[in-house]
Amino acid sequence: MIDTLVANAPGWTVETDVVVIGSGIAGLVTALKAAEHGRVLLVTKALLDAGSTRWAQGGIAAALAPEDTPEEHLEDTLVAGVGLCDVEAVRTLVTEGPAAVRRLIELGTHFDLAEDGTVSLTREGGHHRRRIAHAGGDATGAEISRALLAALKHSEGIEVIEHALVLDLIMDRGRAAGVTLHVMGEGQRDGVGAVRAKAVVLATGGLGQVFSATTNPTVSTGDGVALAMRAGAEVTDLEFVQFHPTVMFLGPDATGQQPLISEAVRGEGAHLVDASGTRFMVGRHELAELAPRDVVAKGIMNRMLETGESHMLLDARHLGRRFWEDRFPTILASCRSHGIDPLTEPIPVVPAAHYASGGIRTDRHGHTTLPGLYACGEVACTGVHGANRLASNSLLEGLVFAERIALALRDELEAAAVAQQDAPARALLSAGAVTIRRGGAALSGDLLVAAGRREGTAGLLDPSVHGEIQRIMSAHCGVLRSAEGLATARRELAALAGRTAAGPCVEAWEATNLHLVASAIVAAAGRREETRGSHWREDFPEADDRWLGHLVTRVQGAVLATRFEPSRSYRTTAA
Ligand code: SIN
Repeated sequence: MIDTLVANAPGWTVETDVVVIGSGIAGLVTALKAAEHGRVLLVTKALLDAGSTRWAQGGIAAALAPEDTPEEHLEDTLVAGVGLCDVEAVRTLVTEGPAAVRRLIELGTHFDLAEDGTVSLTREGGHHRRRIAHAGGDATGAEISRALLAALKHSEGIEVIEHALVLDLIMDRGRAAGVTLHVMGEGQRDGVGAVRAKAVVLATGGLGQVFSATTNPTVSTGDGVALAMRAGAEVTDLEFVQFHPTVMFLGPDATGQQPLISEAVRGEGAHLVDASGTRFMVGRHELAELAPRDVVAKGIMNRMLETGESHMLLDARHLGRRFWEDRFPTILASCRSHGIDPLTEPIPVVPAAHYASGGIRTDRHGHTTLPGLYACGEVACTGVHGANRLASNSLLEGLVFAERIALALRDELEAAAVAQQDAPARALLSAGAVTIRRGGAALSGDLLVAAGRREGTAGLLDPSVHGEIQRIMSAHCGVLRSAEGLATARRELAALAGRTAAGPCVEAWEATNLHLVASAIVAAAGRREETRGSHWREDFPEADDRWLGHLVTRVQGAVLATRFEPSRSYRTTAA
């Protein structure tokens, strides 16, 4: 197990107070709010608007309707999370959510409005009320992203670096003190560089590219989770990868980012049927097609197994032309671009990897288990999702916890300023005494390269393993899992570890990250011998309350160590 990626020595260094990695809702809100308290450097892997946020269709959930309450939102979230949500984290989410959404509106986000001028709310799976705010019909993420980027343009104190892959954490005396990164561009800050900061916020998004077919964009290669694990941080609940039930079926061998058909289409009345036209979700759950996402994904997979069909169908013809054009223009265009007209024919659908409910373990202020390192959004595990995220809680989580992180950063920056005044020796830190962790020792940047050269590219994987990791994970660690399949995945992933890269490059770093993340998912999925939420074991088909707790994984020396931690503040059923 490597604890840093082999890379050239940093050719440039920049100093800031806070470095935020990622430009989805979590990263942008953190950056905007943190800039009120210090200098911020915002780093993003591609263009500022290329992450998962802009692909979010359905919306953002919050108890905004007069007849709705945070308590009801809490209950729906706990039920979806099947006993593994942290109740206090969920309470934070649902009570702070409505005001946070209103602040998003004040900042310039235009949600769709009802005729009376209030925010128009829809339903999605697992919600007993209409509480999903949406924008542009089905382009909610794109609108939130637009509004936040407009605010970013007018903000002072935020520097942006695009096209930069973050590599590793820089540690100083047990604290995160910055990151190394590789900028894939041209100009002054090109190639490998170092950002030194008083705090690091990871908001790098998801890991869907671990699987062959996913709703995630190509940038979602689990870089944040891998970086945190290499630095020794704890990750948790990684086995709970959510498969979105209704992703357009483009054929059995389709790979890469697949077109999402939002749950909101079912929320507005679309039905799931098999080839014979039977509504197979009716009778499987009281909410039928609007059951929580894991239940619908399992219903679809079960029906596919029962009928031998390669996919199911989403019938939304009865919604009518006008409704389709007004409410789901993006999905309508996407269907038509693939030769499907949802006004006249049902849409072929299958489940595909969509969202990591687990991630880097944090408290309710985004602190990870490493001092100075914060995590926010999909890369984090705050405890709000449990075994299965409730639809449209993800944008809300990114928003609410980013605001909380900004408050924690304010305190941290103030404390750092006081400490600097009190102890002039600490100025050494900003004068170049920053160190990079390697093999448990603290080495300077130059020594890191020397060590890297001595070891060649040991541990850095050849880019060709990327596709193989996806194949292994989809075949053996997808919607339906078993001990046998997971053992095969473990064996095949271990075999890939010997395929080292000829030299450092973006594709090799990404493949190495994917491999670490995939290995950690398989380790946790193998340990959890029950079916719960989005973790479905055909050999252990029932939930087993001996497993009410979390699998916490860490890199320890050469191995991945996974331990079980019994639950603390969880409820198994709704009150
Ligand atoms: C959807 O629109 O169905 C996706 C929303 C989500 O993942 O919460």
